[in-house]
Amino acid sequence: MAIKQLQMRPDTALYSKIAVPQQEQPLLCHDKILLMEDIKSIQGNTIIYGDCIEKLKTVPNDSIDLIFADPPYNMQLKNDLYRPNNTKVDGVDDQWDKFGSFTDYDDFCIAWLTECRRILKPTGSIWVIGSYHNIFRVGNIMLNLGFWILNDVTWYKTNPMPNFLGTRFTNATETLIWCSKSESCKKYTFNHKIMKKYNDGKQMTSVWPIGLCIGEERIKGADGKKAHSTQKPEELLKRVILSTTNKNDLVLDPFFGTGTTGAVAKKLGRRFIGIEREQEYIAVAKKRIENITKLWIESEWVEKEISINSPTSRRKSCSSKNG
Ligand SMILES: C[S@@+](CC[C@H](N)C(=O)[O-])C[C@H]1O[C@@H](n2cnc3c(N)ncnc32)[C@H](O)[C@@H]1O
Repeated sequence: MAIKQLQMRPDTALYSKIAVPQQEQPLLCHDKILLMEDIKSIQGNTIIYGDCIEKLKTVPNDSIDLIFADPPYNMQLKNDLYRPNNTKVDGVDDQWDKFGSFTDYDDFCIAWLTECRRILKPTGSIWVIGSYHNIFRVGNIMLNLGFWILNDVTWYKTNPMPNFLGTRFTNATETLIWCSKSESCKKYTFNHKIMKKYNDGKQMTSVWPIGLCIGEERIKGADGKKAHSTQKPEELLKRVILSTTNKNDLVLDPFFGTGTTGAVAKKLGRRFIGIEREQEYIAVAKKRIENITKLWIESEWVEKEISINSPTSRRKSCSSKNG
């Protein structure tokens, strides 16, 4: 596969530009290497290395069509957890998920959500995912900042982890809060008809039964362990991006992790910007997105995949874009 030659100035090594196969050009806009001074003309398909609060400040006002944020949950796990057979549960104990106090966590969320609201187009929307550990704090902050809640979607995990201690119900849900920029922003994108078609002709509800990310989809390191503790399923992002963006829209994810948002955006012909603070995750995300060779065709819904290299399918996807 022919890959575009990328130039990387030494001083821009922090910016990781995704190499994109040339054949994709009709679908995606990806000609620029992102430089600091270049940020106003940001075109998408870029991963930015760094702290999202600092980097979001450089994004222009009203420039992003969709923000998907999967922030640290501040899980506050204090002790190791063991299964009845004494094996250790692989929980989320990463350093990036730890905060000194609830106030620290709230201040962090106020800072990144304030920037997100500033950069969101009036026609855009934001989704934030969280668990009972953080979602009520996040929701309160979003309302205080002026976001307008459109739905709270429940991700119902069809294969949840049991409550090993038997002290509570099995926790089988996470919540996605979907908001427009403000109450007055009524012209946000919502592809009602597409989602109905996607849902076998029935209006989709706000409860989404989707399995945890396991099996082949789960990215593993050389040691065979999960590359990231909280990789989200692509099906979740597919519904988010499909329902609330149009082709070639610009999607931003301030907590990019393994790049699930970027991978799905690419497969659906949307542009993306990902921000991530850990270089090891950037490497995983970059490889994952570069390796995508099949796109999803929106017009014919959806499990039909086309190979990026097939001339017939390229013609199809271009005509669906223009028609
Ligand atoms: C919950 S995970 C996101 C997982 C991602 N949705 C996926 O499917 O792989 C949160 C990510 O945010 C990153 N992160 C945490 N704080 C950050 C910050 N201040 N700026 C940028 N990234 C941050 C972490 O390194 C982690 O990869």
